[in-house]
Amino acid sequence: MSLAGRNAVVTGGASGIGRAIALRLARDGADVAVLDLNRTGAEAVAREIAGLGRRSLAVETDVGSAASVAAAVERVHGGLGPAHVLVNDAGIADFVPLLQMTEEVWDRMLRVHLKGVFNCTRAFAPDMVAATWGRVVNMASVAGLIGGPGLAHYSAAKAGIIGFTKAIAHELGPLGVTVNAIAPGMIDTPMLRAANVPEEIIRHTTERNPIRRLGVPDDIAAACAYLASEEAGFVTGQVLSPNGGAAF
Ligand code: NAI
Repeated sequence: MSLAGRNAVVTGGASGIGRAIALRLARDGADVAVLDLNRTGAEAVAREIAGLGRRSLAVETDVGSAASVAAAVERVHGGLGPAHVLVNDAGIADFVPLLQMTEEVWDRMLRVHLKGVFNCTRAFAPDMVAATWGRVVNMASVAGLIGGPGLAHYSAAKAGIIGFTKAIAHELGPLGVTVNAIAPGMIDTPMLRAANVPEEIIRHTTERNPIRRLGVPDDIAAACAYLASEEAGFVTGQVLSPNGGAAF
């Protein structure tokens, strides 16, 4: 799937799924900007991308801040040029039961995920509209489809991302831009390990799952590479859920 000549922006690209996506899109021929709160991590991934022979850029960005995203757009334009592919992957996770959930915990989750996707899409969509070609891929989650205990804030944010995806697929489709979401099942990343998901939940999920293993970041990168490709030009407003069969 060739992305030669395309510029891709990957938020959350310093770690886990975002890193795998950034490297996969680079292997498919794209030049890639890695936008992440974690500057050191973003720089390390940008060096890996350069090692693949592609142009790359690391931009310290808080996707929850419109001003930070606007500054990132300037950096991307100066460093690579206009964006053709935007992958909204940046995210955080914690498990908090509703009865213990504070307004601050709720707001933080919605800010990074839902407002982050809005900020970045609004900021980079004009590049794609100008080119009458673009791909937006938003990272949702099976939690946005079926929920999960301790995940009211996360599930609401991810379901919101799915609604946003479907709404702007209507708006941007006629302008040459597809917009899709990926709803991964449980993927073995630093986020999963840091969220202290009990081993028994990981084991239970893996045992129930027809494929009988946790997902890995490259499972999601493959789905993203397809949605970002020329070949996926008739696919928009969809939710692709690589989850090993854990949720249908
Ligand atoms: P990760 O923790 O390995 O990577 C997330 C990245 O996002 C980090 O580099 C972090 O610095 C960055 N980030 C966090 N807040 C940010 C902000 N405000 N601005 C810019 N960057 C920020 O996590 P992982 O697991 O790779 O998750 C990536 C995405 O996939 C997230 O949206 C997550 O919700 C989603 N996801 C993950 C699943 C899993 O089981 N790991 C399952 C379903 C969805």
